[in-house]
Amino acid sequence: MKDIKEEAIELGLKEARKLFGKQVERNKLTTEQMAEKLSNIRPTLSYGDFGHVDLVVEAVVENPKVKDAVLTEVEGLVDEKAILTSNTSTISINRLAENLKRPENFCGMHFFNPVHRMPLVEVIRGEKTSDAAVGATVAYARAMGKTPIVVNDCPGFLVNRVLFPYFGGFSLLVEQGADFQHVDKVMEKFGWPMGPAYLLDVVGMDTAVHANEVMAEGFPDRMARDGKTAIQVMYDNERLGQKNDKGFYAYEEDKKGKPKKVSDDAAYALVKQVVKEEKTFSDEEIIARMMVPLCLETVRCLEDDIVATPAEADMALIYGIGFPPFRGGALRYIDAMGVAAFVELADGLADELGPLYAPTDKLRDMAKSGDTFYAKSA
Ligand SMILES: NC(=O)c1ccc[n+]([C@@H]2O[C@H](COP(=O)([O-])OP(=O)(O)OC[C@H]3O[C@@H](n4cnc5c(N)ncnc54)[C@H](O)[C@@H]3O)[C@@H](O)[C@H]2O)c1
Repeated sequence: MKDIKEEAIELGLKEARKLFGKQVERNKLTTEQMAEKLSNIRPTLSYGDFGHVDLVVEAVVENPKVKDAVLTEVEGLVDEKAILTSNTSTISINRLAENLKRPENFCGMHFFNPVHRMPLVEVIRGEKTSDAAVGATVAYARAMGKTPIVVNDCPGFLVNRVLFPYFGGFSLLVEQGADFQHVDKVMEKFGWPMGPAYLLDVVGMDTAVHANEVMAEGFPDRMARDGKTAIQVMYDNERLGQKNDKGFYAYEEDKKGKPKKVSDDAAYALVKQVVKEEKTFSDEEIIARMMVPLCLETVRCLEDDIVATPAEADMALIYGIGFPPFRGGALRYIDAMGVAAFVELADGLADELGPLYAPTDKLRDMAKSGDTFYAKSA
């Protein structure tokens, strides 16, 4: 574990001690195992013996210039067979590979927060990444106990590309008068571990605004927006979410020291700035407006070959963003509704809400021919 700041190293070790300590409390680890695991982490401020490493995960600040500098520096120090990976969530893997001498040994390795809880790791294949590099990174993720999924490079990769249209649906609902706490309750009842406003507080408004800009640039036709969204207003007013105890909700510490969300009038007052209508929505309408953009973007990722199979796409959504597992993922959800019924639902919404809700031509063909994403069981 290499950093440039002593405090950052200490913070990393403290976090590792805390997480292993919890496992000891739950009898999942013995104190001896904890000591062994901690001694396997070698904290350092210098590149020392990086010459012997097999695989590096770069996780420095999300700035392309800093990442370029760190990756090219590391590439010059490691063995020529070593694999370099980046934990970037928004920078193109092809773009980061441009300055490397051995782009075939480089790919993305994208973890999800909270990293010790979320099983998914996206392994992002760049245009020049070799199969051997992908294979080694997949094996490394598995050895960590993670569930890797291999995806091709695009803005947002697979998971964030699908998640941000869902947040887009949320912003539109709020602007048309939906109460964000009600939206959260409806989506939680639908099966999500947390509703979209709460999820945004956990992700952090700064991260969401930045990722949203990347998505809007990558897919302007459906993801670029005129005017401010509720997310932007939260960010402009320094309501970053759980990280500074205020976002769509305010956060207090519960008895165990964990953040507990409470309703906050100040958040409602800010959201009012973007509310343009005073519509009321049924639970069914809220679900449709939230789920259709997410499902359609999953369809596009499959059509664009970002992900290889419906099963992998659905698994990534369940393991990476907590898609209700009993619904089986976005493509399974479309199949369960019936492709034709889904297309009709989306078309109805697209008339009013625009391209975020417009089905693809291939999906229309599927609706006509009766095709499904998964083979129909006999
Ligand atoms: N925060 C998230 O939700 C999230 C999720 C997935 C991926 N990521 C990615 O993880 C990476 C880190 O994000 P974070 O939120 O932990 O950021 P952070 O700012 O908390 O941590 C970055 C660390 O990099 C260190 N650093 C900076 N320059 C360095 C250098 N030249 N050499 C070595 N270390 C250096 C900093 O001292 C700091 O400790 C980013 O690429 C981010 O996109 C973040």
